[in-house]
Amino acid sequence: MGGSDGAEPIVYVNGKRHLLPSGAGHVTLLQYLRDLGLTGTKLGCGEGGCGACTVMVSSAETDGRLHHRAVNACLCPLYAVEGMHVVTVEGLGSTRDGLHPVQERLARAHGSQCGFCTPGFVMSMAALLRGMAPEAPTEEEIEEALAGNLCRCTGYRPILDAFKAFAKVDAAAYTEEAIAASKAAANGGANGSNGDAHGGGGATNGGAKSSNGKNGGGRVCPSTGRPCDCGVVDDSGGVTSTSAHKEESCGPLTHACPAVEPIFPPELRKRQPAELRIEGPQCTWYRPLTLDSLLAIKAEHPAAKLVVGNTEVGIEVKFKGLRYPVLIGATHVLEMNAIEADAEGLHIGGSVTLTKLMETCKGLIAKLPTHQTSTLRAVVEQLRWFAGPPIRNAAALGGNICTASPISDLNPLWMAAGATFTLVGQGSGQRSVAAKDFFLGYRKVDMQPHEVLLKVFVPFTQQYEFVKEFKQAHRRDDDIAIVNAGMRFRMAQAEDGGWQIAEASIAYGGVAPLTVMAPQTTAALQGRAIDGAALEAGLAAVQQDIQISANAPGGMVEFRRSLAASFLFKGLLFVAHQLEAEAPGYESPFPASYRSAVKPYERPPSHGLQYYSAVPGEDVVGQPYRHMAADQQVSGAAQYVDDIQLPAGALHAALVMSTKPHARILRLDTAAAAAMPGVHGVYTAKDIPGGNDIGPVLHDEELLATDEVLFVGQPIAIVAAETEAQARAAAAAVMVDYEDLPAILDIDDAIEASAFMEGWGHMVECGDVDAAFAQGCEMVLEGETKMGGQEHFYLEPNASIVIPGENDEYLSYSSTQCPDKHQKDICHVLGVPMHKVVVKTKRLGGGFGGKESRSGFINAACAIPAYHTRRPVRIVLDRDEDMQITGQRHAFMGRYKVGFTREGRLQALDLQLYCNAGFSLDLSAGVMDRALMHCDCTYRWGSLRAKGFVCKTNQASHTAFRGYGGPQGMVVAEQIIDRIAHEVGKPVEEIKALNMYQEGDLAPFGQALVGCQAQRCWDDVMASSGYAARNASVEVYNKEHRFRKRGVAVTPTKFGISFTTKFLNQAGALVHVYTDGTVLVTHGGVEMGQGLHTKVAQVVAHDLGIPLQDVYIAETATDKVPNASPTAASASSDMYGAAAADACAQLNGRLKPYYEKMPGKGFKEVVMAAYLDRTDLCAHGFYSTPDVTGFGGLYPFNYLCYGAAVSEVELDTLTGDFQVLRTDICMDVGKSLNPSIDIGQVEGGFVQGMGWSCIEELVWGDKQHAWVRPGQLFTRGPGTYKIPTANDIPVDFRVTLLRNAPCERTPMVHSSKAVGEPPFFLGTSVFFALKEACYAARADAGLTGWFRLDLPATPERLRLACADTLTRPYAAPDMLPKISC
Ligand SMILES: Cc1cc2nc3c(=O)[nH]c(=O)nc-3n(C[C@H](O)[C@H](O)[C@H](O)COP(=O)(O)OP(=O)(O)OC[C@H]3O[C@@H](n4cnc5c(N)ncnc54)[C@H](O)[C@@H]3O)c2cc1C
Ligand code: FES
Ligand code: FES
Repeated sequence: MGGSDGAEPIVYVNGKRHLLPSGAGHVTLLQYLRDLGLTGTKLGCGEGGCGACTVMVSSAETDGRLHHRAVNACLCPLYAVEGMHVVTVEGLGSTRDGLHPVQERLARAHGSQCGFCTPGFVMSMAALLRGMAPEAPTEEEIEEALAGNLCRCTGYRPILDAFKAFAKVDAAAYTEEAIAASKAAANGGANGSNGDAHGGGGATNGGAKSSNGKNGGGRVCPSTGRPCDCGVVDDSGGVTSTSAHKEESCGPLTHACPAVEPIFPPELRKRQPAELRIEGPQCTWYRPLTLDSLLAIKAEHPAAKLVVGNTEVGIEVKFKGLRYPVLIGATHVLEMNAIEADAEGLHIGGSVTLTKLMETCKGLIAKLPTHQTSTLRAVVEQLRWFAGPPIRNAAALGGNICTASPISDLNPLWMAAGATFTLVGQGSGQRSVAAKDFFLGYRKVDMQPHEVLLKVFVPFTQQYEFVKEFKQAHRRDDDIAIVNAGMRFRMAQAEDGGWQIAEASIAYGGVAPLTVMAPQTTAALQGRAIDGAALEAGLAAVQQDIQISANAPGGMVEFRRSLAASFLFKGLLFVAHQLEAEAPGYESPFPASYRSAVKPYERPPSHGLQYYSAVPGEDVVGQPYRHMAADQQVSGAAQYVDDIQLPAGALHAALVMSTKPHARILRLDTAAAAAMPGVHGVYTAKDIPGGNDIGPVLHDEELLATDEVLFVGQPIAIVAAETEAQARAAAAAVMVDYEDLPAILDIDDAIEASAFMEGWGHMVECGDVDAAFAQGCEMVLEGETKMGGQEHFYLEPNASIVIPGENDEYLSYSSTQCPDKHQKDICHVLGVPMHKVVVKTKRLGGGFGGKESRSGFINAACAIPAYHTRRPVRIVLDRDEDMQITGQRHAFMGRYKVGFTREGRLQALDLQLYCNAGFSLDLSAGVMDRALMHCDCTYRWGSLRAKGFVCKTNQASHTAFRGYGGPQGMVVAEQIIDRIAHEVGKPVEEIKALNMYQEGDLAPFGQALVGCQAQRCWDDVMASSGYAARNASVEVYNKEHRFRKRGVAVTPTKFGISFTTKFLNQAGALVHVYTDGTVLVTHGGVEMGQGLHTKVAQVVAHDLGIPLQDVYIAETATDKVPNASPTAASASSDMYGAAAADACAQLNGRLKPYYEKMPGKGFKEVVMAAYLDRTDLCAHGFYSTPDVTGFGGLYPFNYLCYGAAVSEVELDTLTGDFQVLRTDICMDVGKSLNPSIDIGQVEGGFVQGMGWSCIEELVWGDKQHAWVRPGQLFTRGPGTYKIPTANDIPVDFRVTLLRNAPCERTPMVHSSKAVGEPPFFLGTSVFFALKEACYAARADAGLTGWFRLDLPATPERLRLACADTLTRPYAAPDMLPKISC
């Protein structure tokens, strides 16, 4: 082992030297760091798609310069960082020694909620700053640097705000005169930042917070001394923002961290890299330094894989279980790292990283004449949307080419641009292959096993030669292509002076098993002028070139073929417009409105405004305090279940899971697995000492399947072994033979088979619907609408630890929203009483409903090996397992008959709702109940009858997800209203306003809407957004742009607060007062990022009259507060705040005599006196929500929350690509307990709702997707399932908390209202704005009237909805793209 010069292989981590272990060829940097105890770096996905594992890697370049880059530790091989310095979040700063400015800024700006993504964001930002120093990044560069980091909680706005404090700003703004002028402007005009309807918010709406320096209104920030970039509005001018806010959000950074970051180790500066050969039982790792050395190794081991970024190989190892006995790190081979330009073009070494390629191209573009750099510009643009920066920093060109992925983003460009590849092998020398001839088949290339790709040559373009890149993905940022293309056109002037296509070269990816040229298209265009006829000929030819069979992998056949046509159309228009700019006298033959087809994608940095009523004075309730654990989260100190140090002797567990959706188990053979190294046991149903039947409502699930499996992923056995890898290997070795049984894979199947959960489909009815239709509604429509499910995508996958104790005691640490349920499950499956089992949850890395009930079976399964081995056992699901087996938001279908007047007034609705519940009941009945009670949205329907059908299918059991069926019910209502508006020929907002609920109206379930804020929210957002004017300007825009359309839409919401199962509406809290005056609170609610602990602590601090920092909440534990309901239904702040307040009232009662006896004395002295007097300083508080009746009664909800949002979007009608230009939200949260936390919930909920309705699509193996195995979830990770990124949020994002709207229904905690779920539905305003844009596009194509658009509005659905001559050959205008439902 070791370097060729005898030097020992080392790595520095956070300034500390480590000798690298041998035998770790397949070990990732992430595994290594976490084994070192540096658990701040998280495992979110293991596939480079979430950014939770981001670290900074620093190395000395050959020229002595230091190079700092963010990389994904989950894909980075440990040996790849030999001789380098790795800095993790712990290396930046800590709560004890002081936070790094990046950490501190993020904590103060409310940029962490659950905190699981937070270290990754911190490291991406820190690496950017360090890499660019002493230069500061621009706001655009900051947003770009975060493209590979996902956050499921915050909606990104506060993260971006936090980091933009580090952005370079206009130097002119720093002159003394400018700052003085800025100060003067601030003093002269308070609230100047708002500049709209809220501008004079004054005392009632004083806490306005602009999140963009550009809206700073001339204020100088107390933090930075710059013109304001934190946007807190000053006290001057009658504004009542509080001191606490200023201190929290924009006070000066403490800079308490003395040595901000570890310096680059001097040893590494001096050290010359050596060749490496590190052996191990499974893998030998080589690191050659020269090409000769590499070729010699490759000749000796032709099957060896080269590794540069490991972003392909790492995926193969982790997800395909491939093992490579020899890996060759090609990062240090000098010849393959060269990148040089000569007069002809650019030579790029095979190991050149994508970041380096991008930077070099940018440098050449700035230096060379424009006409030479058309290809380089296309490469830069394509790379901008190629993965996220941490991937681009590690991944190399050679890997992208040699993998020969049919969706490689670069290969179409190399082929079209006429690039050549140089291959070299020992003994065979060098040879060149044209890029267009290199790809031979699916992942097959013209390269011999002993050869490597040495370099790529890309010729510069000539005058009038244009190269263009295209890519359409599900999501713009960090996504693989659906279809991509590269096109090159060389134009020449004919004898008659006209311009013709002298040469064309067109390549497509994503349409075949390999990247392909389009020869017929090229031939059809050659020698032609670019005009309508050429277009027609090209489009006809592309139809011939690009043929995709109906069941081709990836599906979306019509869309993919349409995209190929759209790209060609765009390509030709691009050339025409380029020529117009460059060729004297040339005029594009296309109308000016066609320019919109080639309008470049532009997105300015996003910004936001937040409005709320600031609480005057020093009252701790109502202040925008940061999340209590923010400092721990930003420093990586916050612990999640997978971070807990295991006791000695602990084992790791893995599940054996069904591969069939419905089958009889014929044979289950565990013998081979049980005999594998490190395995302590393989446990099946017969090893369960208690009951094998579990489930949150009905015990209708088997913990471990016995005779039959009912969904893909169903646990059949659980393995315990000494390491996680051993447990997984053994689980894979368990043999199961099945006999297939018929499977029900979607709602349609279930309806056909009448497969409903008997007795669980309820009904909501008001008025006589049949009579209303019989008496003659003026107009009647019938229809159907569908919507897909949604993956929770909490960043922390499910994890549990079960520790057996003496006398059948068990202690479990579990990532759950319901420790009580876990306690019950463990007791049930082990057959022990509840008083012997304790379940603790400190925090969750996100839950959103997904860890309410579906975490239970994982925890219970983990208890089985703990029982048998008497050792602690931990199980952590991989992301793909978690997604496959823990269920999602329910897909729904609604069938409706609606009656209304010609004016658009609603008269009657008869609705059937069907949800896909999966294999067991779980919480589906409650989800359906809530859908039934929200299908009215905010409208009076006259008579209404809504009947629910809970469909039993062979999928994982679908479950609670933020909104709990409410959004599904409301979206049906909104779809119907949209249709009615078109039927009666009125703007949709007019129909909504006409039917809007008013104070005192009765909801269909019978509850009177007391304190109804629907109209106020609506009015507020219509005014603040300037809806009417914006609508008018959208119309003008749409007239001028044929292929870019804008749409604006307003969406209201109402959401009922309470568990609709009555007994769950109860809560307990335990408050301990210690003799030093500090207070420990334990309550039954779980902190999952929503700020529950912070709010409860505020209530306690307020009620006891003590500073917030004297209150602490450590964890949730079933031995402190028993029988707690799940933390769900948005009601936790209400319930646990009230329970804690009850405890405080008891304590205050006991302390009162001492206060009276000790006038002027504070809490500490009084507490000590009470203690010495033998007073009980511990109180248990309890709260049960009064009056609520549960579903079926007249008060299912304690109260309702309201809100409204206006969104404006811009849609590329040729591809379905879109962006949200602006969103305005008005949300009713009562009198906010903590406006920053509430705003965080509104923004996060909105973005999640937008994700559900417009971006995220679950694809299941069903009859719509025959290319996926039946019952298998295809979208099992961030690579295939796309949640919104920072780039997807509204460019202009404004949130208002409704003013003067205290909750009055019952005396709620400080008159506040719930906020977790209610804003979610507002995200669908983006969906309806997109639909408006589609209407405009269809109108241009002569298609008028309503059309059906199901959720989610993915690029596929949007493009096909914008039917035009390009889609016509492939899809009818009313075609409904396939959906898993
Ligand atoms: C999260 C994520 C996002 C991604 N996004 C995109 C995207 O948007 N667009 C896209 O096109 N791809 C994408 N990819 C795919 C991948 O990142 C690229 O293909 C990348 O360029 C591979 O380079 P690498 O250095 O990591 O390859 P490695 O994994 O190190 O190697 C890959 C393969 O190439 C071979 N190889 C490497 N270099 C040579 C050489 N010089 N000669 C011969 N063989 C060689 C290796 O033997 C190995 O088989 C993504 C991957 C991930 C994980
Ligand atoms: S864990 Fe590495 S990117 Fe997700
Ligand atoms: S705070 Fe980002 S995922 Fe929870």
